[in-house]
Amino acid sequence: MTQSRTRISKAVIPAAGLGTRFLPATKATPKEMLPVVDKPAIQYVVEEAVTAGLSDVLMVTGRNKRPLEDHFDRNYELEEVLVRKGDETRLARVQESSDLATMHYVRQGDPKGLGHAVLCAAPHVGDQPFAVLLGDDLIDARDPLLARMVDVQERHGGSVIALMEVDPAQIHLYGCAAVKPTVDDDVVQVTGLIEKPDPADAPSNYAVIGRYVLDPAVFGVLRETEPGRGGEIQLTDALQALASSPDLGGPVHGVVFKGRRYDTGDRGDYLRAIVRLACEREDLGPEFREWLRRYVTEEM
Ligand code: G1P
Repeated sequence: MTQSRTRISKAVIPAAGLGTRFLPATKATPKEMLPVVDKPAIQYVVEEAVTAGLSDVLMVTGRNKRPLEDHFDRNYELEEVLVRKGDETRLARVQESSDLATMHYVRQGDPKGLGHAVLCAAPHVGDQPFAVLLGDDLIDARDPLLARMVDVQERHGGSVIALMEVDPAQIHLYGCAAVKPTVDDDVVQVTGLIEKPDPADAPSNYAVIGRYVLDPAVFGVLRETEPGRGGEIQLTDALQALASSPDLGGPVHGVVFKGRRYDTGDRGDYLRAIVRLACEREDLGPEFREWLRRYVTEEM
């Protein structure tokens, strides 16, 4: 008998964080709205979800996050001005974000951690597997990751996380996975997880990066998850419970990502993302690259 399965269509984007690493820029502007070249960081993330076939997007927001809702909504006043001017190029750019996906919003209320943010999505998600995309992680559109994770989830069931090998000295900044190989080079089975371990306690240098495809069983586990590292309800802890007791909601697999990723929540990486993406842009790139070359060779 063939089992008919609904394709994963829902993406959850936690976006309630305060963005303190970018103060004062984020005093009155959500960190997700900071531009990477000329698009807010969050738009890249929504575009990534849509490209992977997930066009139902739930953002978990908090106070001071109204600009996020406005960005993905129509702006009739601005559109009318551009129509009157006959500026179709800019009109298309304005409409791009409102035509992108079906957007939904829920507020987290108390900032009790990433696990708690994901739990806020439970009523919207229901009982189907779903994806979680963390807004601080920008995955280069030319190195698709999420679509591969959806494939792996459809093949193995359970949950799938994204992993990247990092310098062992950096592992304390991430969730860290203990893994076993599978027949696929880029897929591992996750046997354990620990949130931001001291390097001495880290079972590997496989860091969890901000893409997840989760079995809805994670909600039940999150409801039982006690606050962990930093006094917050950690998604990593719930996934550790799933990885160690597959009966709870299937296995946990990891897709090992070797492509380009930027942590736009880190000021250095944010700058690197802007420089790199600007260099590669057809419209801005040629002139900017030329300037950059001169700047590096003559002025530094
Ligand atoms: C979160 C997760 C962590 C993961 C990281 C990826 O941490 O808790 O497991 O490695 O995202 O960016 P945060 O960076 O939000 O503290």
